[in-house]
Amino acid sequence: MKPSVPEHIASIVPYPPGKPIEELEREYGISGSIKLASNENPLGPSPKAVQAILAATSGLHRYPDGSGFYLRKKLAEKHGLPFDSILLGNGSNEIIELVIRAFMGPGDEVMMPAPSFLLYRLVVQWMGGRPVPVPLREDLGIDLEKMAQAVTAKTKVIFLTNPNNPTGKVIGKADFEAFLSSVPREVVVVLDEAYIEFNTNPDTPPGFEYISGQWPAVIVLRTFSKAYGLAGLRIGFGVMDPEIASFLNRVRQPFNTGSLAQAAALAALEDDEFLTKTRQVTRDGLQFLYKEVEKMGLHYIPSEANFFLIEVPCEAKKLYEAMLRRGVIIRSMASYGMERFIRINTGLAEENIRFIETLRQALAAMEQFDSSGRPETSSIGAQSR
Ligand SMILES: Cc1ncc(COP(=O)(O)O)c(C=O)c1O
Repeated sequence: MKPSVPEHIASIVPYPPGKPIEELEREYGISGSIKLASNENPLGPSPKAVQAILAATSGLHRYPDGSGFYLRKKLAEKHGLPFDSILLGNGSNEIIELVIRAFMGPGDEVMMPAPSFLLYRLVVQWMGGRPVPVPLREDLGIDLEKMAQAVTAKTKVIFLTNPNNPTGKVIGKADFEAFLSSVPREVVVVLDEAYIEFNTNPDTPPGFEYISGQWPAVIVLRTFSKAYGLAGLRIGFGVMDPEIASFLNRVRQPFNTGSLAQAAALAALEDDEFLTKTRQVTRDGLQFLYKEVEKMGLHYIPSEANFFLIEVPCEAKKLYEAMLRRGVIIRSMASYGMERFIRINTGLAEENIRFIETLRQALAAMEQFDSSGRPETSSIGAQSR
C-alpha cells in the first residue's frame, strides 16, 4: 500500500538547486569545471573563519550553544541592536521557514514578489498556506503598490528581497516606508537582505532601523552564505522585535545552528579584509562581465548584488545544458518563469573570462546546429536582441 500524501505536498515542484561541480563532472566525465550558479563567494571562505573552525573542532562531542550567545552578542554590538532581537538560523533559509511556521495558519496567505527567491513560495506550500506571488513592474522593480493592494484579511506575511534575487534591483527608502505605512500592523514584513553587503545604492532602506517603533512587524534576514563565503556551513540570522523573536524561538529546533558554524560566523565578522576583497572582486567582475556581454550584443540587467541577469537569444534551459557540457554551471531562469534569461554570479577574473568564452562558443554552436536543423536548438533566433 502506498502512503497517502496530502495534495498540497504532492503538487509541489521541488526547488532546483544549482548543480554541484562534483555531480556535473561525474555525469559528463569532465574536469576543471566552474560554477557561477548559486551566488556563492568565488574567493572561498573567510580565512579567519577557517581558522576558527579548526580551533573549535575539539568541542565537537558537545551539543552547540543553542542560544548562540557569543555570535548574537557580537552581532548586537556590531550593529547596535538589542541582544534579544537577534535569532540565528541554519542558513537564513531556516528563518524563512520559522517565520511561516509561526505566523501562517492553514489557508492563510503569504505574499512575495514574482520572481524572487523561490523558497518563500515553496515553504508556504509545504505548510498548507496560499502563496500570493505579485509580478514585478515592467522595469523589473518590486511592485510595492500592487503588493499593498493585494493584502487581504488572510495575508499574514509579506516577503521583500533587497536586493532582489534574481534581478539584483533594490527598493528605494521612500518607497519602502510608504509601503510599510500602507500595510496593516498585524502583517509581518520580511526584508530579506541576503545580498545587502554588495549593494552600493545609497537610496536603500536601512533594514535594522525598522524593527521597532511606528512600523508593522519587520523582520530583517541576513546570511553568512554570500559575502562571508560560508554557504556550506549553513548559518544566517534574523533581526526583529524581541517579542517576534520569542514566537520564532518557540518553533525552532533547540540546536538549530552547529558549533562550527557559530564559531566561523563569529570570526568572519572580524574579517574586514576578506569582506573588502569580496566586494572589490564582485564589483570588478560585474564591470568586466557587463562590458563583455554588451560586446556580444546581449541585453543585461545591472545589479546591486553578486549576480546579474542576461537575456539570451534562445531558450535559457538549452543554453544551460550547452554550457554544462562545456564545464560551466550557470542558472537558467526558466524555473523563475523567465524562459530567455540566465543568471550568473561573478567569479574570479579567470572564471569570468572562461564564462564569456564559453558563452560565445555555446551560442555559436547552438546557432550552427539550428541552421543545420538539429532538434537541440530549434528555439534559437526566435527572440534575439
Ligand atoms: C534572497 C535569498 N535569501 C536567502 C537565501 C538563502 O541563504 P542561506 O544560505 O543563508 O540559507 C538565498 C540563497 O540563495 C537568497 O537568494
